[in-house]
Amino acid sequence: MNRHEIFNQTHAFFADLLGDRCRFDTATLEEYGHDETEDILVLPQLLLVPKNVDEISLIMRYCNEKRIPVTPCGARTGLSGGAIPVENGVLVSMEKFNKILEIDENNSQVTTEPGVITQVLQNAVKEKGLFYPPDPASKGSCFIGGNVSENSGGPKAVKYGVTNEYVLNLEMVLPNGEVIWTGANVLKNATGYNLTQLVVGSEGTLGIVTKIVLKLIPHPTHNLLMLVPFFDATEACRAVAAIFNAGITPSGMEFMERDALIWTKNFMQDESVIVNERHAAHLLIEVDGFNQDILMEDCEKIMNVLEAFETDEILFAESEAQKDKLWQLRRKVGEAVKSNSVYKEEDTVVPRYYLPELLNHVKAVGNKYGFKSVCYGHAGDGNLHVNIIKGELSDDVWHNQLPIAIREIFERVVELGGTISGEHGIGLVQKPYMEIAFSEVTMNLMRGIKKVFDPNGIMNPGKIFD
Ligand code: LAC
Ligand code: ZN
Repeated sequence: MNRHEIFNQTHAFFADLLGDRCRFDTATLEEYGHDETEDILVLPQLLLVPKNVDEISLIMRYCNEKRIPVTPCGARTGLSGGAIPVENGVLVSMEKFNKILEIDENNSQVTTEPGVITQVLQNAVKEKGLFYPPDPASKGSCFIGGNVSENSGGPKAVKYGVTNEYVLNLEMVLPNGEVIWTGANVLKNATGYNLTQLVVGSEGTLGIVTKIVLKLIPHPTHNLLMLVPFFDATEACRAVAAIFNAGITPSGMEFMERDALIWTKNFMQDESVIVNERHAAHLLIEVDGFNQDILMEDCEKIMNVLEAFETDEILFAESEAQKDKLWQLRRKVGEAVKSNSVYKEEDTVVPRYYLPELLNHVKAVGNKYGFKSVCYGHAGDGNLHVNIIKGELSDDVWHNQLPIAIREIFERVVELGGTISGEHGIGLVQKPYMEIAFSEVTMNLMRGIKKVFDPNGIMNPGKIFD
């Protein structure tokens, strides 16, 4: 059979299975052929929108038999190209898996389908006084299933941990169509290999997750938020570890370089925060808990630490509205940068005490290769988002020099005990740099694991490693 006949046969099979939930009109394929990663677009042959586990199982079995690539996708807010169907085939959208199945208050757990928007899930459990902390910047639009696939983080991770710390158990469909549970709905589990944690962060390369059991914690009742301007960006980074070393664990510790905040203020037409010409960077610091007096004491301790640093007047948020505004400014940095220029986003992470060194290195490499970067991110986690701006750079420099410069950044990151992605994943765009983070022996272990789950290599091919 030629390609055309194979396509017709595949199309006929899925149209029969899914009706109008099997789509191949160009407008749809163009809409689904990208996520939020840079400007990459690859069209799948078909978009499939299953609505139950049986349908996914049938899709997998058929594709496994015919060796058709299967790329799962959620809300397509990812930043490493994990949901882009680089080898075409079928793109399986999880958008119909949008139900929260059970909030188990007795055990502080929730069982959900993967296509639920993270913030919707957070709000639903909050109504019961419960808290699901991981809060990526895209929480208002991303899916919880995507968060599981990428092991997403967000500002709250610094105190509460990233997605994997909340995932107890997963139902997933394997590439051969079989349906399994990876673990149990328990807080401790010493029963065999931890498949649950293996699947979290596996970027849709091992199977398709169809149910997620998450741990919940009591929702904190109080928080305080402050924005601290620094005259020197490296000093801001240095203050981060100093605050933790004074015995405080903030529930948010975000760094924004001058341009990150200014570009976002412009993007949002914000007048509420003043950035003067001497402000080189800001830290946005939140503490939360159940007792306002203790939080006030924490803030005093933070202020004491900050006395050793040159800061301008600290802004304390005085109302919930002001807190929302400040957090919105922080969450919108990525979008603001994107709206300004073609850019490339790196997701570097180092042990937090080395953050000043990381920032200095990024700037030094920028000077050497002639690029500007806008840096911001989850400073408390040592997680610096480095947005490299194309601006006036030639296409030649952008395509040929930049990868060399990025390599220099990543090599230093690894020397500092860090790694090349903290929370955005490897997906498609960071794949060439994996050998900086891992030896060939380790890479081969990963390839071996992939083969056990997916011997025919149909699941999200072209991601993480070749
Ligand atoms: C953020 C996303 C880009 O922190 O991770 O804004
Ligand atoms: Zn982030």
